[in-house]
Amino acid sequence: MALERTLSIIKPDAVAKNVIGEIYSRFEKAGLKVVAAKMKHLSRKEAEGFYAVHRERPFFNALVEFMTSGPVMIQVLEGENAIAKNRELMGATNPKEAAPGTIRADFADSIDANAVHGSDAPETAAVEIAYFFASTEIFSR
Ligand code: PPS
Repeated sequence: MALERTLSIIKPDAVAKNVIGEIYSRFEKAGLKVVAAKMKHLSRKEAEGFYAVHRERPFFNALVEFMTSGPVMIQVLEGENAIAKNRELMGATNPKEAAPGTIRADFADSIDANAVHGSDAPETAAVEIAYFFASTEIFSR
């Protein structure tokens, strides 16, 4: 198994619900280490750039509106198989389809406000991590 890094975002709905600590605890219990973190209120430009691959999708504007509606908590997680492990912890994009005990099943209200983001592949993880963090802001242990 490979030691990987992935980008995780705790979205405005989950930050507003005061469950940052609960979610961090799930990362840590699963063997994922937080090696970089920042809280940020994304500008429209930052959110549009981050989700540029979804630009043509019908939900793009709503997604950008939602992601700029309040502060988010952004972190780099490191561990064995971090990308898949984080996505397993997150559960399906639509919380109605998310397995019991996953972050989205427990904290998300809808497909639009679904609590967390996680990179889906090594290539996207590298791009997404570099979008928010300089290498000097990541503290591998
Ligand atoms: S897809 O269909 O597989 O490309 O979808 P996915 O990559 O899982 O999700 C795309 C991101 O858009 C957010 N989002 C929605 N997806 C689908 N339908 C609706 N209505 C919708 N609204 C928002 C979804 O949560 C994904 O965001 P991230 O931040 O990557 O989780």
